Amino acid sequence: MAGGLVVTSPGGPEAMAWTELPTPDPGPGEAVVAHTAVGVNFLDVYFRSGLYPWPDGPMIPGAEASGVVEAVGKDVTDLKPGDRVAYVLPHGAYRETRVVPAERLVPLPAGIDPVAIAGAMLKGLTAQYLVTSSYAVQPGDTVLVHAAAGGVGLILGQWLHSLGAHAIGTAGGPEKVALAKQHGYEHVIDYRSEDFVAEVERLTGGAGCAAVYDSVGADTWRGSLKCLRRRGMFVNFGQSSGLISDFSLADLAAGGSLSANRPVLFDYVATRDDLLERSSDLFSRILDGTIKLDVAATRPLREAAAAHADLEARRTVGSTILLV
Ligand SMILES: NC(=O)c1ccc[n+]([C@@H]2O[C@H](COP(=O)([O-])OP(=O)(O)OC[C@H]3O[C@@H](n4cnc5c(N)ncnc54)[C@H](OP(=O)(O)O)[C@@H]3O)[C@@H](O)[C@H]2O)c1
Repeated sequence: MAGGLVVTSPGGPEAMAWTELPTPDPGPGEAVVAHTAVGVNFLDVYFRSGLYPWPDGPMIPGAEASGVVEAVGKDVTDLKPGDRVAYVLPHGAYRETRVVPAERLVPLPAGIDPVAIAGAMLKGLTAQYLVTSSYAVQPGDTVLVHAAAGGVGLILGQWLHSLGAHAIGTAGGPEKVALAKQHGYEHVIDYRSEDFVAEVERLTGGAGCAAVYDSVGADTWRGSLKCLRRRGMFVNFGQSSGLISDFSLADLAAGGSLSANRPVLFDYVATRDDLLERSSDLFSRILDGTIKLDVAATRPLREAAAAHADLEARRTVGSTILLV
């Protein structure tokens, strides 16, 4: 038996209850992983609260983690007990030990910190596909990122800087603004006290941005469209402030022949080849120092409820990691 946080019906952070769970033997194509650390993501909040479709029966949140392989199914040949691994998805990581499909496990190269990477599989691979596939960022592009001091935001700023883009960020409050500035952003707008649309217009001399990466959603999307240059790309990849509800294709025409994209990480790492290729890109940028992973906060796994409360109240910066 090993412990985990189980949610029996959608609710607040307190809906996650510590429960002793059996650890099954690994079946064909599976591995048992003893977790080292688990990353906290807004995605976990969406599932726990019921914003995203609730699975049948009780659920365990958590979509990224690192650990050590304890056992493998008899047909699994490329992993063995003792291997250090990390993964993003399937959900269910808020537990000490679990069974994972072996094809979802990525071996960790030497030099990758298993605690820091637990908070950067989902967030880092998101940054990877956003800058390569949602909109292929070119050197010299000016790009706007909302929630720049958040978990995804701090990685994205560094990645954009390394590609030669001019990254503008938004963040809530002076401390978050200062932190984002240390992570690749040339300018950071405090969107609680400043009008970010007017500021982007000023900073770009009216030219606008090639792309906007917007994970805030309801509160920002209208302004985001106004920040784009003609034929710019609006990428909405989250909704920390609530769902976008009244978007119309006509908004894209009115904004200057804009494009819009609503990506989901899983579609970019659905095959093992994609997963390994994108992970390799992420790991090599961490190992060469292009991307520095700050572990902003750690808590014991049992305290995930407090981590959720902080995330939902905008009290966090960077990645929060649960230690197992
Ligand atoms: N589609 C995908 O593939 C994908 C993958 C990963 C993550 N995401 C999305 O990316 C976003 C960032 O995820 P994360 O885990 O790294 O979270 P995060 O950015 O660390 O935290 C969310 C941040 O959003 C900002 N925010 C603005 N309005 C908010 C509100 N009303 N309530 C709460 N926060 C608000 C806050 O920053 P300020 O205080 O600076 O405003 C807050 O710190 C989430 O929306 C997540 O769902 C999407």
